[in-house]
Amino acid sequence: MQATIPAGLDRKEAEVYLRLDPNRLPKHIAIIMDGNGRWAKRRHLPRVAGHRAGVASVRSTVETAARVKIPSLTLYAFSEENWKKRPKSEVDFLMGLLCRYLKQEVPTLNKNNIRLEYIGRLHELPPVVQKKMEEARQATSTNTGMVLTLALNYSARSEIVDAFRSIVDAAARNGGLDHMEIDEESVSRHLYTRHLPDPDLVIRTSGEMRLSNFLLWQLAYAEIYVTPTLWPEFRGVHLLEGIAEYQKRERRYGGLADHDHHHASKARS
Ligand code: FPP
Repeated sequence: MQATIPAGLDRKEAEVYLRLDPNRLPKHIAIIMDGNGRWAKRRHLPRVAGHRAGVASVRSTVETAARVKIPSLTLYAFSEENWKKRPKSEVDFLMGLLCRYLKQEVPTLNKNNIRLEYIGRLHELPPVVQKKMEEARQATSTNTGMVLTLALNYSARSEIVDAFRSIVDAAARNGGLDHMEIDEESVSRHLYTRHLPDPDLVIRTSGEMRLSNFLLWQLAYAEIYVTPTLWPEFRGVHLLEGIAEYQKRERRYGGLADHDHHHASKARS
């Protein structure tokens, strides 16, 4: 049977899509968008030109993910470290880019039934930016399709610290520390990502083999796909190639492979 190609895919995307098993798509994909600076440098442009070009990649990736019905996509837009260690001019530029993106993209997000969320220490962002973020979130809050989560001023270690604080606070409010329950379930429920399943696949662009303090708890069993493509050159077709690679991998979660399992239970019987 010929698989149906989702509406809106271009020819190259359709070609890769036909190699995918639509029943085994990842439920949550997380992306570390890296290489904007290198892309700009190669063109003898200022770093910020790379960030500007990166917005087109965000647009393409988000639309393709929604079209093939990925339930959740999370993008590492900037880390706590980026925000604290980069020159103010670059940070200001990124904030401006984000505000413009939010303003321009809301109609497209609505058209594609995408709900916008954020993770990170959002209260540390400039109040004007927070206001625009909240408006965009509200404007897309009733959409029922893909959840697009932007990680802004995000650090996984800070997130875990905040989760512990929130567990202790909740216990103090609900009958005292004797009633505090800590297990994997409760930690997950206090992370910023409580609205999401753990990612099945994490993609990093521009070749670096690091997690860079991104979703450390949530990525425990994720497949890692690193592509040399720089973020400003990444498009929907590259996302689909990442999914194709993911589908070739065998996921075991610490158990045995299916065929080994079969042998093991046969040996026991
Ligand atoms: C990494 O490249 C990228 C960033 C720190 C910023 C990512 C931002 C965007 C793609 C655009 C704005 C985002 C949204 C959601 C509208 P780098 O500068 O670390 O690259 P390098 O490692 O080559 O220097």
